[in-house]
This record gives sequence, C-alpha cells and structure tokens, in this order.
Amino acid sequence: MNQSKPLPTVAIFGLGIIGSQAADHIAEGGYPSITWSRNTRDRSDYEPDPKVAADKADIIACYLKDVEAVKEIFDVIKPLLSPAKTFINHATVDYETTEYLVAECAQMGCAFLNAPFTGSKVAAGNASLVYYAGGDRELIERLQPFLETTSAQIMRVPSPLAATILKLTTNLITASTVQALAEGLSINAAHGIPAETYLSAIEPNACASTLIQMKGPSMATGDYNPHFSLSNMLKDARYMLDLAQRAELKTPGIANTADQMQKRNDLGEGESDFSILYRQFIHK
Ligand SMILES: NC(=O)c1ccc[n+]([C@@H]2O[C@H](COP(=O)([O-])OP(=O)(O)OC[C@H]3O[C@@H](n4cnc5c(N)ncnc54)[C@H](OP(=O)(O)O)[C@@H]3O)[C@@H](O)[C@H]2O)c1
Repeated sequence: MNQSKPLPTVAIFGLGIIGSQAADHIAEGGYPSITWSRNTRDRSDYEPDPKVAADKADIIACYLKDVEAVKEIFDVIKPLLSPAKTFINHATVDYETTEYLVAECAQMGCAFLNAPFTGSKVAAGNASLVYYAGGDRELIERLQPFLETTSAQIMRVPSPLAATILKLTTNLITASTVQALAEGLSINAAHGIPAETYLSAIEPNACASTLIQMKGPSMATGDYNPHFSLSNMLKDARYMLDLAQRAELKTPGIANTADQMQKRNDLGEGESDFSILYRQFIHK
C-alpha cells in the first residue's frame, strides 16, 4: 500500500500570461488545484469565489498583476488564513505591499513566502521561471518540490523585502535596455541603416544581451504580442521610483523611461508587450 502523504491542495490566484501556465504545471505535478481569476475562465479547476478557493487550499499561490489586485484579493481571503496555510506571493509588488503581506500573514499565523520571479511567457510555458525566494529557510525547503513544478531555479534571498527590491531593480535594467534599444533602432532607421544590420552589430559587442536577442527582432518587425505587458512594466517602474525615493535617491533614467511608457499606455497600448515603447521613438 502506498503510504506517502497526499500532496497539498493549491489555489492559484491570477490566470494571466504567467498564472495560467503555472496553474497547468502545478496540476501536471499532481497537486490537487483550484484556480481563481477576476474574469471567468473555461477551466475545470476554475472556482468563481476567491473565498471558496482559499478555504479549500493548503497553499495559495498568487500571480496577480499589481498592488491593487494583490491587496484587494488578499483582504478578501485574509479571514481564511491560518497556521495550516501558506501564502506565496509571486506578483511583483512594491515595498509597502511586501511589508503589508509579511505583517498580515504573521498576524494570521499563516506562513508567507515572497517569491517574485524572472522569466517571461516562454519560461512560464517551459516551467523554467527563476524565483527570488525571500522567507524562512525551512519554509523554502518545504516548498521546494512545489516551486519546482514551475521553475528551473529557486534563489534564496535575504528577506521578503529583498526579493521585491531585487526583482524591481533587475527590471530597471530590462526597461532601460529596451528604451536604449528603441532609441538606437530609431536613430539607425532615420539614417537608412536596417534594423538587422544594427542587431548584427550589437551581437559581438559587449552590450549584447539575451534581452536584446529576444526583443530586437520583434521590435524590428513591430510584433508586440505580449510576453510582459507595458502596463505591468510601467507599474514596476513606478515601484522602482518609490524604492529610490524611500532611499532619497534620484534615478532620472528610469523616471524618464516611466514617462515614455506612460505616454504609450495612455494611447491604449498597455496590454501590448512593453517593447512597444519603441513606437515612442520611431521617426515620424
Ligand atoms: N509576464 C512576465 O513576463 C512577467 C515576468 C516577471 C514577473 N511578472 C509579474 O507577475 C505578475 C503576473 O504577470 P502576468 O504577465 O501574468 O500578468 P497579466 O497577464 O497582466 O495577468 C494579471 C492577472 O491579474 C489579474 N488582475 C488584474 N487586475 C486585477 C484586479 N484589479 N483585481 C483582481 N485581479 C486583477 C488578471 O485577472 P483577469 O485576467 O482575470 O482579469 C490576471 O489574472 C505581475 O505582477 C507581473 O509584474 C510577469
């Protein structure tokens, strides 16, 4: 007789680009699972009531969009949290919300792991996200088999807040790189040099990167099918600026990139890939 302990039940909150694919991998990993998202999904594991989903779950994994979404849903399910449950935040949120989740989970005696991630639509599809895991060592060890259903690497970082800061400041480089690439592509196009020639010139250069390899060709052809949306990169940029402000630092580079992204967002392009920022610089 197989006496191994049954796997914990998982509720996945947020079925966007990442959460929908993570939910598939978690189910494939054998975890009994329930999903919830603001808009109904045609999935057999979909539960329309977030409280029912949270009540049934041992582990709650949150892939919601932003501070507003996370706080709103957290406050709805908070009364159901208890020492028997674990809340994992995978959304990229800000400083204040990270501290809020730490304090509120502690108040309910619920284990809390802050595990934002790197890796986009393709990595989520390949179950190869990389988690920046900030929380107790024992908790991370206990959750490792579960986190491995969606990831290629679990990087332990010093604290929940460190996970948020590391995630946001790596995205700072991503947003700034795409802005630099957009400006470079525009200057080349205006001087009659094709995008392919510019991208070939970048390849052997020290400035080459996986990100440029990913985004350069799609920007050159105007393919903005979202892997990471402009509205999501914009909110991250705002959270980065908040981090800088809290440290009394000036960060004019990302402040300007945020302003440029805001302009495209105001034109209704928020759900396109964030590399649509290129349009802000294309020679008119
Ligand atoms: N995509 C990436 O490459 C990537 C990489 C690293 C980190 N992240 C972070 O991971 C998180 C999820 O990313 P994603 O790309 O999957 O985002 P997404 O496609 O924009 O999905 C966002 C999810 O949040 C829900 N949502 C949005 N506003 C809400 C609200 N006010 N109340 C309740 N639910 C709300 C959406 O629900 P409905 O769809 O049902 O409306 C959807 O399930 C974000 O924090 C993002 O910054 C993403």
